[in-house]
Amino acid sequence: MDLRTVKDIDLKNKRVLIRVDFNVPLKEGVVTDSTRIERALPTIKYILGQEGASVIIMTHLGRPKGEKKPEFSLAPVAKRFSELLGKEVIMAEDCIGEKVLAKTKELKPGQVMLLENVRYYKEETKNDPEFAAELAKMGDVFVNDAFGTAHRAHASTEGVTKYLPSVAGFLIEKEVKFFSPLLTAPEKPFVAIIGGAKVSSKIGVLQSLLDTCDTIIIAGGMAFTFLKVLGKDIGASLFEPDYLDVAENLINAAKEKGVKIILPLDHVCAEKFAEDAEAIFVDSQNVPDGLLGLDVGVKTLAAVKEALDSARSIVWNGPMGVFEFDTFAKGTTDVAKMVAQSSGVTVVGGGDSVAAVNKFGFADQIDHVSTGGGASLEFLEGKTLPGIAALLN
Ligand code: 3PG
Repeated sequence: MDLRTVKDIDLKNKRVLIRVDFNVPLKEGVVTDSTRIERALPTIKYILGQEGASVIIMTHLGRPKGEKKPEFSLAPVAKRFSELLGKEVIMAEDCIGEKVLAKTKELKPGQVMLLENVRYYKEETKNDPEFAAELAKMGDVFVNDAFGTAHRAHASTEGVTKYLPSVAGFLIEKEVKFFSPLLTAPEKPFVAIIGGAKVSSKIGVLQSLLDTCDTIIIAGGMAFTFLKVLGKDIGASLFEPDYLDVAENLINAAKEKGVKIILPLDHVCAEKFAEDAEAIFVDSQNVPDGLLGLDVGVKTLAAVKEALDSARSIVWNGPMGVFEFDTFAKGTTDVAKMVAQSSGVTVVGGGDSVAAVNKFGFADQIDHVSTGGGASLEFLEGKTLPGIAALLN
């Protein structure tokens, strides 16, 4: 992918409008995970290092649906951002309008301003051209570093590129550098680990991976729909009756293409879906009546290890089980460790698996931990991400 980046544009004496994804979790007005802010800092610092440049940041936070709801204000994010950047961040009262525009023009070189939530306007998600033009007035050039929002054709991601010279930041550049080869020419063997609750949300990615992967490991709640297709008992485990055909087609397509599918060989079950539920180990692919499979067992983990040991590329999206409950976290923890220890290229995407590698402390040992949830999935599905397509040469 031939991206134009911040290195390809003259930023001297410019007001640089940067779209980031600071859609971070907040609890009682405090940012609880600042990864997305941290990952945007290299681009922001690089721009601040350019002679005469000032920085105007825009982002969404949550889904206020076009209403100025105070709980979606970026003020708490500005505070954390300022701490991490180590300098003052001027919080604007809005993201468009004459007042804010005048303030952007008064910014001194090296100053940073954060615009208020772009989703306070319904025109943002509608990619309204007039709204995009208003946003574009806030800068002389546009830098998009919001990988997490790159799958949205919104005014602040795609619309604005029609009005300003537009380039990618280092975060988008890095995400593309790691995801692109997985779609085109991954180092082989290429193993994908796809987990999570629902087949419906992962089917697109599974179908796309059939073209490039050697092995696909399917785990988490979604595995039970596949096990059911194979005639296994799944007890009271999660499954999607509407997706039985889809799962069957995928198994058949994998056979035709010579892609190995690994499904859970054993399970850690429980009588109820609860944090205090007692773990019941089931040494079989079949789940007894009345039990729910909540994690994979040791046999499955041995099969995963064998597949990962020889892998030269690994992508992981979605947990192996209900890792939020300590009793059912072993599958996900062990897989996080195996991915971290691999000598191949390792990429982790998707909110839950990223949360898992962070929670268990393996993020530093993984080549690329994506900041995109939906965006990383759509990228792997081979879809065009509008926020990135607008930055191509
Ligand atoms: C995300 O958290 O996945 C991005 O910030 C996009 O948010 P959205 O799903 O509300 O568009």
